[in-house]
Amino acid sequence: METLSINGGRELSGELEIVTAKNSLLPILAGSIISDKEIIINKVAKFSDVLYMTKILESLGVKLQFNNDSLYINSKYADKFVVNDDFTKKVRSSIFMLGPLLSRFRKAKVAYPGGCNIGNRPINLHIKGLESLNVKIEEKHGYIICDGRNMKASEVHLDFPSVGATENIMMASVRLKGVTTIYNCAREPEIEDLQNFLNSIGCKVSGAGSSTITIEGVQTFKASTFTPINDRIVAGTYLIACAMCGGNIRLIGCEKKYNQALIGKLKQSGALINEKGNTTEIIVKNRLKSIPSIETQPYPGFPTDLQNQILALQTITKGTSIIVENLYESRFKICTELSRMGADINVKCRMAIINGVNKLYGAKVVASDLRGGAGLVLAGLVAEGYTTIEDIYHIDRGYLSIEEDFCKLNADIKRIKS
Ligand code: EPZ
Repeated sequence: METLSINGGRELSGELEIVTAKNSLLPILAGSIISDKEIIINKVAKFSDVLYMTKILESLGVKLQFNNDSLYINSKYADKFVVNDDFTKKVRSSIFMLGPLLSRFRKAKVAYPGGCNIGNRPINLHIKGLESLNVKIEEKHGYIICDGRNMKASEVHLDFPSVGATENIMMASVRLKGVTTIYNCAREPEIEDLQNFLNSIGCKVSGAGSSTITIEGVQTFKASTFTPINDRIVAGTYLIACAMCGGNIRLIGCEKKYNQALIGKLKQSGALINEKGNTTEIIVKNRLKSIPSIETQPYPGFPTDLQNQILALQTITKGTSIIVENLYESRFKICTELSRMGADINVKCRMAIINGVNKLYGAKVVASDLRGGAGLVLAGLVAEGYTTIEDIYHIDRGYLSIEEDFCKLNADIKRIKS
C-alpha cells in the first residue's frame, strides 16, 4: 500500500508545467475508435484513468503505442463492441464508449458503470439522448445493450447539461446522414476540445462551448495529430494550494480563461493573481479572508471538481464560508478527515458551513475519492506537523504525480511504498 507523508507549514515557490486534461483525454480516446485512420495524440498525461481507457480500447481491437508522451492509435482493425464490467467498474467514464461504438459499429454493449464515492451518478440522460437518435436500448444483466441499426440524425434536448451525455451524443451523431442538434448541452472547455479533436479527424461539429451543438454527419475520416488542452482542475488545485500555504508560484500552461470562477473567488479573498502569456502567477502574502458563499454549478460556474480543494482553503481563512454542492449528493466526505486535523465544519445535506481556524494539525487521514484526496494533500501542506494520507490511488486517477509536483514547489512531501 502506498501513502503520502507530508511535513506541513512551508510556503510554496517555483514554477510548474500543467499537464493535459484528464477530462479531455478520456472522451478523445473513446472517440478515437470512430475513425479508421491513424491518430496521434501528443502530450498524453498518463493518469491511471487514461491508462485504463487505453486498455479498454485494446480489448476492442484498437492498436495503441506510446512513444514517450505521444500516443499512436489505429482503430482500422477494431472489431469488438462489448465493454465488460472489469473495465466499467474501474473507469466510470467508460460509459462514453457507447456513442463511439454506435458510430463505428451501429451497436454497443457496455456494462453499467458503478456509482462512485461522490454519488450514484445516473446515466438516464445518456440513455434518453441516444434514444432521441432512434437507438433501441435494453438494460439487462448489468449491461446497456444498444441497437443502432435504425439510428438517424435528430434534435436532442438534454434535461440537464451533462458533460458525459453531451459527449456521448456528439460522438454517436458524427456519422449520421443529415444534421443532429443537441440543446441544453454542457459548455465545459473539454467539450470544445472534443469538438476540435473530432473535426481534426474529419467530422463536422460546431457550437461546442455554447449550449447548442450541431453535428453534420460525415462518412470519411482523415489522419490526425492532436494535442488536448491542459488540465484546469489540476491547475486550480495548485492555485488553491498556494492560497493556503502562502508564497508565489507560476503555473505554465494554466489558461486563466478556463478558471475564471476560481480566480474571481481567490482574488475576492485577497490573493494576487496575474497572467503573462499562458502562465498564471499567484502571490499570497497574508492569511486570506473567507469566501462567504460558494455554489458549484455547470461550467462556467464554480466547478464541482474544485469544491473539496476550496473547502480545504476555507478551513484556515479568516471568517465563515458556506459551500453548496449542487452537482453530487455526497461530495463532502473530506470534511470528517479535515475535522480530524482541527477544522471546524458543519455539514447539512448539500451544504457545508466552515468557520476558519488559525491552524490545522497533521494527522493520519484517508482519501475517499479523487478530489477529496487532493483536498487532503492541500490540508497536509499547510498543517503543523506530519500528515499521512492513505488510499492515495484515488489521487493518482487525476494527478500524475502530486508529490513530485509539490516538491517542485518547495513542499516537503513524499510517497511511501510499504
Ligand atoms: C464529468 O463527469 C467529469 N468527468 C466529472 O469529473 C465532473 O465532476 C462532471 O463532469 C461535472 O463537471 C469526466 O469528464 C470524465 P455530468 P460526468 O454528467 O460526465 C447528473 C473528476 O473529478 N447526471 O455532467 O459524469 C449527475 O448525477 C470527475 O475529474 C444525471 O442525472 O458528469 C450529476 O449530478 C468527477 N443523469 C450531474 O448530472 C445522467 O445521465 C453532472 O454529471 C448524467 C448525469
